[in-house]
Amino acid sequence: MMNYMGYIGVLGVLVQAERRFPDGFKFGAATAAYQVEGAWNSSDKAPSIWDTFTHHQSENIADGSSGDVACDSYNKWREDIELASELGLHFYRFSISWPRLLPNGFSNVISEDGVRYYNDLIDGLLEKGIEPVATLYHWDLPQNLQDLGGWTNPLIVDWFKDYARIVYTLFGDRVKTWITINEAIVVCEVVYTMGSFAPGISSPGLGSYLCGKNILLAHAAAWRLYDEEFRPMYHGKVSLTNQIFWIEPYSEEFIEEAELTMQYAAGFYSHAIYTKEGGWPPTFEKYIAEKSKREGYPRSRLPAFTEEEKEFVKGTYDFYAVNYYTSRRARALKPGEAAGEWPMFGAGEIGVFLDVHPDWPQAASHWFYVNPPGLRKLLVWLKKNYGDIEYMIIENGYSTSERDLNDIKRIQYYEDHLEQVLLAIKDGVNVTRYTAWTLLDNYEWTDGYTSKFGLIDVDFNDPARKRTLRDSARFYAKLIETHSLDDINMV
Ligand SMILES: *[C@@H]1O[C@H](CO)[C@@H](O)[C@H](O)[C@H]1NC(C)=O
Ligand SMILES: *[C@@H]1O[C@H](CO)[C@@H](O)[C@H](O)[C@H]1NC(C)=O
Repeated sequence: MMNYMGYIGVLGVLVQAERRFPDGFKFGAATAAYQVEGAWNSSDKAPSIWDTFTHHQSENIADGSSGDVACDSYNKWREDIELASELGLHFYRFSISWPRLLPNGFSNVISEDGVRYYNDLIDGLLEKGIEPVATLYHWDLPQNLQDLGGWTNPLIVDWFKDYARIVYTLFGDRVKTWITINEAIVVCEVVYTMGSFAPGISSPGLGSYLCGKNILLAHAAAWRLYDEEFRPMYHGKVSLTNQIFWIEPYSEEFIEEAELTMQYAAGFYSHAIYTKEGGWPPTFEKYIAEKSKREGYPRSRLPAFTEEEKEFVKGTYDFYAVNYYTSRRARALKPGEAAGEWPMFGAGEIGVFLDVHPDWPQAASHWFYVNPPGLRKLLVWLKKNYGDIEYMIIENGYSTSERDLNDIKRIQYYEDHLEQVLLAIKDGVNVTRYTAWTLLDNYEWTDGYTSKFGLIDVDFNDPARKRTLRDSARFYAKLIETHSLDDINMV
C-alpha cells in the first residue's frame, strides 16, 4: 500500500514538474491601438489608414464596421487595467497610435492628449505591478504619410525613426520592452500582395518587396537609435515581432518546397536581422532574381540590400518575438495549377501550393486552422535558423464567432499550445514569455466584430461596452497563479 501510494505520489510530482513553466517565465496579454482605443477623431488625433479604409471602403469589412469606438479603451483604460490585474498578468502589451501621438505624422507636433493617454495607461499598469510592453507600429499609419507612399517610400525609415525618438523620450523611462513593428508580413503581404488590408493597394511582388525592405531598415533605425541613445539610460530591450504560419511539407518529397516557403514566410523579415550573413534569405533572393529576369525586368523585383544596408540591419535585435496562430501544408504546384487561396507567403510567387490538413479544425477566422504541434516545430526551426537567443511568444490565441462565456475550445487551444511551448523549452529553445491574443474582444480588422479572440467578452451593442470574463480568462488567471498546466482546477 505504502509503495503503491508512494509510486502515485512520485508519479504525480513528475507529471506536475513536467508541465510547470520555468521560474521567471512571464505571462501577458496583448491588444493594439486601433482594435481597442476608439476615439478615432477625439482631440487632435489625425486619421490613420484604418480610419480611411473603414470609412471609405467599408465593403471590405465583413460587417461594414469600423474601429471608431471599438472597446472605447481610450476612455475605459482604467477598467482594462483592472481586468488585467484581476487576471494577474505579468505584462500587458499595447500599441501606440502614431497619428494620436503625432497628428502630423511628423515629429514637429506632439499631441498633449496623446501623451497624457499613454502616460496614464503606463502609470496605471505600473501601479498594479503589470509591466507595460509597447508596440510602436501596429498597422495604423498616419494617412498623410500613406499619401506620400507609406511603407513603399524609403523616406519612411527617417519618419519612423523620428517617431521612435519621441516615443522613447516620452515613455522610455517606464517601458523596458519594445516591439518596433508588429507582423511585417501583414503590413507588406496582406496589404500589397493580397490587397485586402488598409490602405487596400494591390501591388504583388513589387509594392510588397519595397515595403519589406523599408520596414527592415525602419526597424533597424529604431533599434539603433535606442541602442545608442536610450539603452545606456534605460537598459531596455527592443525587437520586432513576426507572425509566422508553420509550413509542413505534404510529404518527404516536398521538404524543399516547405523550406523555401518558410524562408519567405519567416526569413523575409528575419534573415537580414538574425543571421551572420544578413540580407535576404539566399534561396528566396535567387528565386526572385531568376524569375524577374525571365519576366523581362532589368533587375530583381526584390530590391537588393547594399553592403552598408546589410551591416545596418544585421544584429538589430535583443530577442526574437513570434506570433503564432496556424499552419499550412506545402507541395510543388502541378502544371497549370493555381497556388490555392494563399498568395501570402509567396505561394503563387514561388510555385508552391498551400492548403490545410483535413484534421486541423477551423476557428472562426477564415484563415485559421488549429495545429498546436506547429508552434513547437516553428520554435525549433527558429532556433536552428537564428540561434540560441531569447524567444518570446508575443501573440497566440483563438477566435470564435459566438459571444460564448463558456469558451471550452479557446481553453483547449491555450492548453494545447502552452503544452507545445513547454515541449519546445525541453527541446532547448529559450522561450521566456507567452502573450495571449487578446485581453478583450476587439476590432478584428476586415472581420470587423465578427471574430472574437478575447479572454474577456465585450458587448459592442452596449454604449458602455460592458466587459465580462470568459471561462478562458479564469483558466488563464489560474495558470498564471499556479505557473503550471497541471494545477488548474476550473471549479
Ligand atoms: C467624430 O466622429 C463621430 C463619428 O464616429 C462623429 O459623430 C463626431 O461628430 C466626430 N467628432 C468630431 C469632433 O469631428
Ligand atoms: C534565456 O534568456 C534569458 C534572457 O536573455 C537569460 O537570462 C537566460 O539565462 C536564458 N536561459 C537559458 C536557459 O539560456
